[in-house]
Amino acid sequence: MNEEPRYNETYYKFTQFDSCIIDLDSGEKTRLDDICPPICWKAIFGNENPVEIEIGCGKGRFLLEIARQHPEINYLGVERAPKYVRRIQQRFQRHIKHTGLHTGRLNGPLFPNVRLAWSDAARFVECYVEEEGVQAYHVYFPDPWPKKRQHKRRLFRNEIWLRGIERSLYSSSGRLYVVTDYGEYFDEIRFRIDRSTRLVESTSMCIQKEHIQSNFEMKYLAEGRKIYRAVFEKPGA
Ligand SMILES: C[S@@+](CC[C@H](N)C(=O)[O-])C[C@H]1O[C@@H](n2cnc3c(N)ncnc32)[C@H](O)[C@@H]1O
Repeated sequence: MNEEPRYNETYYKFTQFDSCIIDLDSGEKTRLDDICPPICWKAIFGNENPVEIEIGCGKGRFLLEIARQHPEINYLGVERAPKYVRRIQQRFQRHIKHTGLHTGRLNGPLFPNVRLAWSDAARFVECYVEEEGVQAYHVYFPDPWPKKRQHKRRLFRNEIWLRGIERSLYSSSGRLYVVTDYGEYFDEIRFRIDRSTRLVESTSMCIQKEHIQSNFEMKYLAEGRKIYRAVFEKPGA
């Protein structure tokens, strides 16, 4: 069986058709095809604050909460599935409406520090993210594809993506946060990061300081499932 599929143009063509970056305040979209890569963060966010990327945002709870708590950091969510892209847009719009009604304010955008990329994460990181341009990646509950014949679809089997993560993280301080409820996949993730990248697992920091829960984390903690967490750091050159 082919354990690691070939990630070529044919593989990506179905996920790239509508790819764009969405401003979650205004709904404005910029097609990725119209952007000359790598993306200039300053052109997207209008400032030079550090950028963190969440891969596979699902319903968007983590993205909204972390962006609200850290206006000094720019957050980019990357989500491939159209139905979740819509859910994320709705979550932000509900929050914006609610906040506006209760405070009577909303003179400017509420989330100038957030954008959503509707794209395949592997393709996005490989083609659009500049070298050493990202302070942190957050990957929470990546699809485990539990059946053996589906393992090849696991994101962490994609070597191009893994190398893209390593290349695009800040040297010395860049971090990759991973959380999953799937022990066997967790072992594989650690193995593959160790084998294919220079990232080093940190033993001192096991969770983000504020510990904001994603939708899946809330659900699985309520069910009493075991949760596995790791942080990987990029060493200096
Ligand atoms: C199991 S859900 C977890 C969602 C969220 N992180 C959470 O913890 O609640 C995995 C998410 O990753 C997205 N996803 C899977 N593969 C992806 C890829 N290659 N690029 C972008 N998003 C992807 C799925 O569409 C889904 O929204």
